[in-house]
Amino acid sequence: MSDKLWSGRFSEGTDTLVEGFTASIGYDRRLYTWDIEGSVAHCRMLAKTGVITAEEAAELVRGLEQVRREIEAGAFAFDDSLEDIHMHVESRLLEIVGKVAQKLHTGRSRNDQVALDIRMYLRAETRVIIEAVGRLRSALVSLAETHLGAVLPGYTHLQRAQPVLLSHHLMAYYEMFTRDGERFRDALSRIDVMPLGAAALAGTTYPIDREYTARQLDFPRISENSMDTVGDRDFALEFTAAAAICMMHFSRLSEELILWSSVEFGFVEIADAFTTGSSIMPQKKNPDVCELVRGKTGRVYGDLMTLLTLMKSLPMAYNRDMQEDKEPLFDAVDTLKMTLAVYTRMLPNITFKTDAMARATHTGFLNATDLADYLATRGMPFREAHHVVGKAVGFALGRGKELHELSLAELRTFSDRIESDIFSFLGVREMVDRRKSAGGTATENVRSAILKARRTLARESANEDRIKSGEHP
Ligand code: ARG
Repeated sequence: MSDKLWSGRFSEGTDTLVEGFTASIGYDRRLYTWDIEGSVAHCRMLAKTGVITAEEAAELVRGLEQVRREIEAGAFAFDDSLEDIHMHVESRLLEIVGKVAQKLHTGRSRNDQVALDIRMYLRAETRVIIEAVGRLRSALVSLAETHLGAVLPGYTHLQRAQPVLLSHHLMAYYEMFTRDGERFRDALSRIDVMPLGAAALAGTTYPIDREYTARQLDFPRISENSMDTVGDRDFALEFTAAAAICMMHFSRLSEELILWSSVEFGFVEIADAFTTGSSIMPQKKNPDVCELVRGKTGRVYGDLMTLLTLMKSLPMAYNRDMQEDKEPLFDAVDTLKMTLAVYTRMLPNITFKTDAMARATHTGFLNATDLADYLATRGMPFREAHHVVGKAVGFALGRGKELHELSLAELRTFSDRIESDIFSFLGVREMVDRRKSAGGTATENVRSAILKARRTLARESANEDRIKSGEHP
């Protein structure tokens, strides 16, 4: 006969196959620290409200701390028959402190307990991730600073379009990852809600003090409706959605670095430490980190899909299906953290071949728009100017030349508005620096974008220090 903590109404033990099938201890053991911390706070609350005595609470807390030490020392036996981390902690507690352990679960259920554990886990990880995103953004800004002045072709449809500053290109990624940081901060405000006290689904008859529990665990607020509390995994979904978007950004950056490190582009060289060779082709140096990040993006999308699908048809309130939330959530956290770490380390180890980039701006008619703009500012309607320049491009193509390689006389056959100042007008640097519209690629714009980013990062890290010292922002 089974000796499970819930076995009172059962007359037969659990089938061993079912035990293995229903157990989550294989993966939820990583929640042990939060489970114990939550139980300690719960005990203290029970004592404060007189549900148990102060001596009983002290005994329970002592036992819980011993369980924590045993797990940390690797001296703890995990076993499928005990299902999950909550049961493991509680049954070991029973061995350590005896019968008083049976009072720990008063006014609580595993349904609100697991919600608390996941929220505490995810709150800690989200804070770590927000900081890691900050470090990545700072690495991007440093690159933008270092390379301010370097030009390269900007692409649309992966066709050469107009010249841009390399720093402008890098700062585009800074913006993407800044939005990611904002999304994680926003998700954090809904992760950081204390669920304990919802009990199984309806609340409890004991005179508990949920606000007291929340204060001990440093939650700024408690959840509202008890049924929603145990049935809600929106916070996990929001986190994973933010993670999926962040990985998508990484995947795009990776794709560019993979393209740029090809002989065809030759715009970057990634340091040896971040690439690998081929077992057959001696000349190969492969951008594996970038490729794997691109590949791992699929995992995180999968994690999001798993969670969404898991939740989509669940009736109120808690359902055991929800045990399946942990592996995708953990996977999204682990994959994103690893990606952030490896990328932040790799970025300063990329050599940008700014000469090759600059050379590339001289071909591909990157100055066609500017020639049209030149005509338009000299009185020709833009549509007509567009057409005229199209003709000039066709003419130049036929001679294997670029627009700036045509003679003034040749250019004037398309419009006599063209004067000798056209050649400096079509210079790459001039084209870049004319794009002064807010958010454009002109050097002075990009310089102030970099300054603004530096200030933002400094403000954020001061804020994070305040949060770490226990203040709520
Ligand atoms: N291991 C379970 C989970 O992860 C804990 C909650 C179980 N609740 C229950 N009533 N069986 O969701």
